[in-house]
Parts: sequence; C-alpha cells; structure tokens
Amino acid sequence: MDETVFDFDGDYGEGYEALARQVIPGYRTLFPMFTAIIEPDLPPGGRVLVVGAGTGIELVALKRARPDLRLHGVDPSEQMLQIAERRVAEAGVASGVSLQTGYASDVPASPRFDAATLINVLHFVPDDGAKAALLNEIAQRLRRGAVFVLFDLHGDPGSEEHDRYMPAWRRYWRIRGMTAEEAAAFDERIRHGIHFAPAERVVALARDAGFTDPQRFFKGLLYGGWTFRRVGG
Ligand SMILES: C[S@@+](CC[C@H](N)C(=O)[O-])C[C@H]1O[C@@H](n2cnc3c(N)ncnc32)[C@H](O)[C@@H]1O
Repeated sequence: MDETVFDFDGDYGEGYEALARQVIPGYRTLFPMFTAIIEPDLPPGGRVLVVGAGTGIELVALKRARPDLRLHGVDPSEQMLQIAERRVAEAGVASGVSLQTGYASDVPASPRFDAATLINVLHFVPDDGAKAALLNEIAQRLRRGAVFVLFDLHGDPGSEEHDRYMPAWRRYWRIRGMTAEEAAAFDERIRHGIHFAPAERVVALARDAGFTDPQRFFKGLLYGGWTFRRVGG
C-alpha cells in the first residue's frame, strides 16, 4: 500500500478506532459476530493467527469469548501494536497472546495455526499479485480444515452496485458525524489508498490460495466478510 495515504504509524493510526467506528458499518459488532461464528471450529487451546492485528480488537474479542485460545497478532505498524498490547493488558487477556511487528510472511510457518483472521487489511493491498501473495502466506500457516475469516472493502468500481453504494457510503460518513472537510479528506485517502477488487475476485483469490467453502457472513455498503476453510495444507 501507499503508506503515505493510510499511515498507521502516523496520524491515521492515532485516530484509527474512532474513525473505524464512524465509517465501517457494523464495526462494533463485527468482532463478536465472527467470533460467535467460528468459535465451534476452534479446538481447546487452539492457535489463531491475527494478521493486521491493529489496535487489538480481534485479540480481545477472541480471548473474551475463549480464554483458552493462544493468539498471535502480526502487524507492520509499531504504533498499532503498542495500542494492541495496552488494550490486551487492560482487558486482562494478555496470557496466551503474542505480538509480532511484521507481515504474515514473517510468521514461522510451523507449527500451523488452527484459524486466521484478516480484517480490514486486504483492501490496502494492490491486486498486482500482492493480494494473492498475502492470502497464500496465510494459507501456508494454517492446518488442513482451519477456518479463515476475511473482511474487507471490496467491489467493482464502475459497476451499478458500486455506483449506488459509493455515494451512499459518503453520505453515511456525514450522517455518522464527519464534517464536509473531513469527508473530503477521507475521500482522497480512499481514492489513493484503497485497492478495490470485485467480491468474486476476492473469493477467487482465496480459492487459489487454498481456501474453500466461502460463507458470506456480512455485507454492509462496500464492506463484507466471509469465512473459508483451508483445504490441503
Ligand atoms: C484498518 S487496520 C485494521 C486493524 C484491525 N484488524 C481492525 O479491523 O480494527 C489495518 C491494519 O493492517 C496493517 N497492515 C497493513 N498492510 C498490511 C499487510 N500487508 N499485512 C499485515 N498487516 C497490514 C496496518 O498496519 C493496520 O494496523
């Protein structure tokens, strides 16, 4: 991604969560929602890889539901991981949580994880082989049958659906309290820093990486999420 547009170690990272609550439909409920869906698939003491752990919301939601889980969060942003570390400690769920500065490719490939999440990350990655590479890196770290949660901004710019929901999303920002100036600045960030891909393309990339059984669990404006299952591995 162009790190000058969405700089998680700079101004964007500092205000990330407040902005996420403002612009991502369902942001508050997303984490308990997918946790509830995948929880039966997580064995006792299961290991979950959280890619793009950010400020640690996935980590806290998963540990609150299942204190036995062992979670490994990886993120290239030091600033985001510092917030995650603090949040996990404040929530009293630090035991069994490890954090690593870096990318999925930096995570040891064995032992394999029982599950992985990639929430609000893939849209920052260009579809020039990089989205495919990221999904492959995650697949390589999962055992056969592992569950994978993928949630991102996606869509086909120029499609009728995109033409309907992009302006609706802009109106949503204002309804959720953004000033006109903030909305204009955020729009610029979206234009330059988000790499939209059609939903079918995202699912195809996941399939190519070794994931099957896509189950759409959420769609709101241009955001949506699926669970997948790792085949092979
Ligand atoms: C929008 S935040 C999402 C954080 C959290 N998952 C959430 O939904 O609140 C995106 C995070 O992904 C990280 N990130 C960006 N590119 C990444 C990549 N290629 N691999 C892993 N993480 C990445 C950023 O540093 C940032 O912390």
